[in-house]
Amino acid sequence: MAADPSRTPLIAGNWKMHKTAPEAAELARALREALDGAPGVDVVLCPPFTALGAVGEALRGSTLALGAQNLHWEAQGAYTGEISAAMLLDAGCRYVIVGHSERRQFFAETDETVARKVRAALGAGLTPIVCVGERWEEREAGLTHALVKRQVAAALEGIGAEAIAGLAVAYEPVWAIGTGRAATPADAALVIGTIRETVAGLSGAGAAARLRILYGGSVSPANISDFMDAPGVDGALVGGASLKADSFVGIVRAAMAVRA
Ligand code: PGA
Repeated sequence: MAADPSRTPLIAGNWKMHKTAPEAAELARALREALDGAPGVDVVLCPPFTALGAVGEALRGSTLALGAQNLHWEAQGAYTGEISAAMLLDAGCRYVIVGHSERRQFFAETDETVARKVRAALGAGLTPIVCVGERWEEREAGLTHALVKRQVAAALEGIGAEAIAGLAVAYEPVWAIGTGRAATPADAALVIGTIRETVAGLSGAGAAARLRILYGGSVSPANISDFMDAPGVDGALVGGASLKADSFVGIVRAAMAVRA
């Protein structure tokens, strides 16, 4: 399924555990200066929790949106160290990354907790960016497509077609994250095709056609155009290259140029 011009490309920066609030605000101001009002692309910045307030303030009134990197599935309660969807909404977030492979790998997130988090985010009116992707050993064993299907089906189970159409999925092969070794655009497009087919099977062709599916893993200003050109790729989740204004602006501008 070729990239559909009715799906607005989405470029999200995942700042991971980088930047104090003043540092984050400075980067957000620089990005706002360069990208506010950029037509034809949705830009989302996902700083650490402690910088959400400062970045939200820096972005206020701009077209750049604020996102968080994680949430808890309960609305409130005795969950030391956790943050709820309502808290993120209150902090000005519109998006939240769910099920990033670093959460799955280092913090024991499972398909089940990811599914709960997706439901909590949607219930609060946040747009989840649901991350899926295989490890190198899984790729070598030929399991990529089956694994990604399982992750997508688990994360979206029981969610209505209308809600699914409005969220985003990020295909992030674990071996490509932070390694400088991105997937090939053709490979990413194949897996993204599998994700769209899986969603079509679960929720119907209409929802699948509206769902935005991003690629993530060592995206840079040098390779973003090739990903945006690949069939079915609706944008990118960017880690390392989102930490500097020049590289993130380069990525967003290149994405816009491909779709202009
Ligand atoms: P990377 O990270 O761009 O540094 O590879 C991507 C991600 O983890 O979302």
